[in-house]
Amino acid sequence: MTPGHWFSPLNPRIRDWHGQRVWLVGASSGIGAALARALLTAGARVALSARTPERLAKVAGRSTNALVLPMDATQPAQWSAGLEEITARWKGVDLVIFCSAQYQPERSWEVKAEGVRTMLEANLASVYFGLETVLPSLLASGSGGLAIVASVAGYMGLPNATVYGPTKAALINLAELLYVDLRPRGIAVTLIDPGFVQTPLTARNDFPMPALITPEQAAEYILAGFAAGRFEIDFPWRFTRVVRFISRLPYRLRFALLGRMLGA
Ligand SMILES: NC(=O)c1ccc[n+]([C@@H]2O[C@H](COP(=O)([O-])OP(=O)(O)OC[C@H]3O[C@@H](n4cnc5c(N)ncnc54)[C@H](OP(=O)(O)O)[C@@H]3O)[C@@H](O)[C@H]2O)c1
Repeated sequence: MTPGHWFSPLNPRIRDWHGQRVWLVGASSGIGAALARALLTAGARVALSARTPERLAKVAGRSTNALVLPMDATQPAQWSAGLEEITARWKGVDLVIFCSAQYQPERSWEVKAEGVRTMLEANLASVYFGLETVLPSLLASGSGGLAIVASVAGYMGLPNATVYGPTKAALINLAELLYVDLRPRGIAVTLIDPGFVQTPLTARNDFPMPALITPEQAAEYILAGFAAGRFEIDFPWRFTRVVRFISRLPYRLRFALLGRMLGA
């Protein structure tokens, strides 16, 4: 590796979205819906997936570049059917964005087995099902990309995110290993770590959310991150930097600080 490489972006920059064929899973609400609209406005072709067709159709509006593709991401067969439809329509896919997730705020003593299963499948297993489906064609072409939406909740263990947090920590780990595994084979891998965004998902939180932003702002940050070719697109920095700093403190300090901040 020559020194110049240290300063080049970790992924190819995407500044022009015309001609890009994007599969966005979790496109019916919140960050995914805002991102789908932003991508369509930027000229991409976007396949919009989630379980609720009516909401997807609303996001697609009248765009001729939108393909409404309802599916349950926890069902491997629905990934295969989705890819078949995209391939039939567009002859392939360039970027798959894994944005779907479910969230249940709960303390450790409130966890129930069924809820655990649901969240592990929706947030984590679904990504593996998607990878199994799309990787063969991406590897065959030696191009394209994957983007995984995790969360700053995955930076460290935080009470209330008893199941959600570990799924997001696992996705961060997965994105890191995918980068090392796939980037040499021509596939870009992007990790997206939002802070608090005002969506139906966070509407369940009953605490004040610091540095809260809108889904439209989140979409802007994400497009800016792709334009810069970043591996990790985290935002807003005023919040993510603080969480990252706390997560890197020695445990004794970190736990004391979190205990004081959360009043736990
Ligand atoms: N909001 C935040 O503050 C925040 C912070 C950090 C990370 N994130 C992450 O950002 C992503 C988007 O979250 P959001 O806040 O925008 O939440 P949201 O508004 O609740 O959107 C979640 C999306 O996932 C879809 N979905 C859920 N289960 C699915 C399944 N089994 N199959 C297919 N689609 C499914 C939902 O659509 P259907 O219900 O129609 O299926 C919806 O489109 C998530 O990965 C979340 O963890 C959010």
